[in-house]
Amino acid sequence: MKIAISTGGGDAPGLNAVIRGAVLAAIHRGWQCVGVRRGYAGLLGEDRVVPLDANAVRGITHLGGTILGTSNRGDPFRFRVQQLDGTWTERDRSDEAIAAFHALGLDALIAIGGDGSLRIAQQLQQKGVPVVGVPKTIDNDVGGTVATFGFDTAVQTATEAIDKLHSTAESHERVMVVEVMGRFAGWIALHSGIAGSADVILIPEIPFDIAKVCDKVRRREEEGRHFSIVVVSEGAAPKGGSVSLIDPEHQRLGGIGDKVAHLIAEMTGKETRTLVLGHLQRGGSPTTFDRLLGLRFGAAAVRFIAEGRFGSMVALRPPLITAVPIEEALAMPRRVPLDSDTIATARDIGISLGD
Ligand code: F6P
Repeated sequence: MKIAISTGGGDAPGLNAVIRGAVLAAIHRGWQCVGVRRGYAGLLGEDRVVPLDANAVRGITHLGGTILGTSNRGDPFRFRVQQLDGTWTERDRSDEAIAAFHALGLDALIAIGGDGSLRIAQQLQQKGVPVVGVPKTIDNDVGGTVATFGFDTAVQTATEAIDKLHSTAESHERVMVVEVMGRFAGWIALHSGIAGSADVILIPEIPFDIAKVCDKVRRREEEGRHFSIVVVSEGAAPKGGSVSLIDPEHQRLGGIGDKVAHLIAEMTGKETRTLVLGHLQRGGSPTTFDRLLGLRFGAAAVRFIAEGRFGSMVALRPPLITAVPIEEALAMPRRVPLDSDTIATARDIGISLGD
């Protein structure tokens, strides 16, 4: 057997652990492994395919990023090509990628990615490439699995940042607004906000009312708490409003933190500051949880290949790692359930969710 591994979309801490888990489990079976550089670029002649042996994956479990590189612009089904006049068009180059896959004598592909990369993997599977998917995203919004690797590390980073903001917020009697990642799902904001003792948490699943946010800030003032911490997901939006985009053409989110801070200052008279954590949340060494989950996902992907379970995605369903159809995972993206005990906990301990 000769298998390929690719990492696509935004990186997440734990990617290298998945690569190591998969490569060592494959070598253990006497298989060969190669890595596709930068998403699918290595199969499109835009980059290389590199051999992955035990040496290549030595000492990488604790490293952030991906040794294979990644891209969120290299979808072979909708490959972006710049025209002479500077405009962009899309071209389907999937047949080229598939031809390269066969020319390399490959038997299976482990596609590590979030919803976008898993959708590409699913399309490749439909065109005859034997694929096993591995769910990756710090946002934790892939369906079918209780968790994606990278999320725990991102939450840890966000919680540490919120912890540090408390003393400066209190000293200056300010409102600090922290914008965290979370395009469609508020997991990072909710978990880091509760763990970091935020006063307000705004998530995409609950459209917020800025008046309610200000009420909370004012109530704290009355109680002698002259500072507040507001954690907002980048994908949060006001009731009846839309998400905040800094680059509408590429649907890049950003700016909601500043907007919320500005309105709080205007409506309460409090001095406010904004901190955008941004890509800091995608960096750094993965937590123990993410390293272990990554290694388990990687090894499980190889076991599923050995069992011929193609078109499936490895998924955490404690205490097991199971195989779920990629199609099923894509059909039910994971959002924060509004009836979850975590939401109830936030409300019970007095955190405003802006509703
Ligand atoms: O999907 C993960 C994520 O971190 C989102 O929360 C965010 O909107 C996006 O990636 C940003 O990705 P990039 O800056 O790489 O385009």
